[in-house]
Amino acid sequence: MGLTEWAYSLSESLLSDPLPRRWAHSLGVAKRARSLSPILSDDAELLEAAAVLHDIGYSPEIATTGFHPLDGARFLRDQEGADERVVRLVAHHSCALLEAEERGLRQELASEFELEHPDLVDALLFCDMTTTPDGTHTTPADRLDEIVQRYGPDTIVGRFIQRAAPEIYAAAERVEGRLAKVVAGGQPM
Ligand SMILES: [Fe+2]
Repeated sequence: MGLTEWAYSLSESLLSDPLPRRWAHSLGVAKRARSLSPILSDDAELLEAAAVLHDIGYSPEIATTGFHPLDGARFLRDQEGADERVVRLVAHHSCALLEAEERGLRQELASEFELEHPDLVDALLFCDMTTTPDGTHTTPADRLDEIVQRYGPDTIVGRFIQRAAPEIYAAAERVEGRLAKVVAGGQPM
């Protein structure tokens, strides 16, 4: 089984039944990942696999600490023996270190999982932050507003996402810049 085929099937088995909206979001994020293939060269499949798996830590089957990047990455590493780079991308998706800080888990996350290449970290963040909870396309600004409203500004997630906003906008700009370069005839990264 190929990397992406395995990733879709695993994510579907963990999310589609208990959390259909999360599953729809995950499929949307994976679709965004496919759209970035022009700037990813050999890492296109890796990003798509990480994209469809990024939120599996929400699955009631594997949620342990309640911090989904850590739960998802530990499950992939310990139960699935997954590709190390997929594990790292899931562990650190969408500024997870900042949310870990709010939860007192920064040290745990940082010591167990290394960061992947910054271009891939940016790419996954871009895909997640331009996809609504239902899996459709959105802008980072609308996505951030929606998260703050859904969780509340004074919750762990609400506080984290407001702190992460500058990095989210900066990452989105970097990815858009790379895409524009390729469209204009530049070299992929
Ligand atoms: Fe997530």
